[in-house]
Amino acid sequence: MTAGIKKAELHCHIEGAASPALVKIQARKYNADVSGFISGDRYVWSDFTSFLVAYDGAASLFRTEEDFALLARTYLEGIAAEGAIYAEIFVSPDHALASGLSPAAYFDGLADGIAAAKASTGIECRMIIVGVRHLGADKVEAAARLASSRPHPLITGFGMAGEERFGKVADFARAFDIARDAGLGITIHAGELAGPDSVRDALDHVRPSRIGHGVRASEDDALVRRIADAGVVLEVCPGSNLALNVYPDISSHPFDRLRRAGVKVTLSSDDPPHFGSSIGREYQMAADAWGYDAAQLTGFTRTSIEAAFVDEPTRAFLLGQLD
Ligand code: ADE
Ligand code: ZN
Repeated sequence: MTAGIKKAELHCHIEGAASPALVKIQARKYNADVSGFISGDRYVWSDFTSFLVAYDGAASLFRTEEDFALLARTYLEGIAAEGAIYAEIFVSPDHALASGLSPAAYFDGLADGIAAAKASTGIECRMIIVGVRHLGADKVEAAARLASSRPHPLITGFGMAGEERFGKVADFARAFDIARDAGLGITIHAGELAGPDSVRDALDHVRPSRIGHGVRASEDDALVRRIADAGVVLEVCPGSNLALNVYPDISSHPFDRLRRAGVKVTLSSDDPPHFGSSIGREYQMAADAWGYDAAQLTGFTRTSIEAAFVDEPTRAFLLGQLD
C-alpha cells in the first residue's frame, strides 16, 4: 500500500545502515571475526550499550574510500527502490579515524557512493557530520570545527549522536555554536533514551531546527506545545524506538499523539538493519498503526523536505516531485 509513496529519510547513521551480509563481506576482506555481534544474517545486541558495540564493530570494517562508496551506494539504492527521493546520512569522522581513514577520504568515498546512487536512481543525498557524545565535548567540538570548515559541498549539517545519558547538553553548546555560526543545519539526538528534560535542554542550549527522536517530549504537555509553537521538526524513528524498548509496542508510540498536538513529525529508520527496519517499513508501520492515507504519508515526506538541510533549488525540485 505504501510502496508507491515518495519518501524521504532525515535520520540514518551510515555505519548503522550496513547490513550483516555486507559487513560479513567486509570481514572476509579484512580477515576479521564478527561473531561477537553478528549471528547468521542478524546483528546481536540486547540493549543500547551492546547496540553501540555492534555498531562500532560493523563500522570498524569500513576502512577505505571504496568501502564507504560501496556502503553509501548500497544503502541509497536500497531506499530508492522503496520510493525514497531524498536522504540525509549522519557521517562520523571519529568512526573513520578509528578505522584509519582521514575525514577527507571518508567524505570523498561517501560522495562517490552518493553520486553513483544518484546516477542510477535519481536519489538526492546530503551528509550531516555528527559528533559522538560519549567521546566527550572536546571531540564533539573538533567534529564541529571540521564541519564548519565546509570540507565537502554535500555536507550541510551538524549533529550529535551517541549515548544521550553521557554529560549534559550544555557541555556541548559551544560545538553547536561553532556549527551554527558556519551556517550549517543543526540537529541533535535528544528524548530517545533520556526523558523530556533532555529535549528541553537541547532547545535551550542548542536551538536546533530538528531533533533526532525527541519522542519522550510527549511525557510533558508544556514541552510538546513549545516544540509545536517553535516549529521544531522531530526525526521520529518508530522501529528504532520499539527495538530499543523505548516503547513496548507501536500502539504505545507517541508519533500520532505528537502529530495531533501540532508537532511537525517525520519518519526515519535510524540504523535500519539493527532494528529490522527500513524507510519503507517505517511508512508501512505508521500506515498500519494509525490508518494514514496516501496524502498524509506524502505529507510526512513534505515535512521532511521542508526541513531538509539542502539548497533552495534542490528543495523546490524535490517538493515538485510530490505534486
Ligand atoms: N548512533 C547510532 N544510532 C544511534 C541512536 N539510535 N541513538 C544515538 N546514537 C546513535
Ligand atoms: Zn540516531
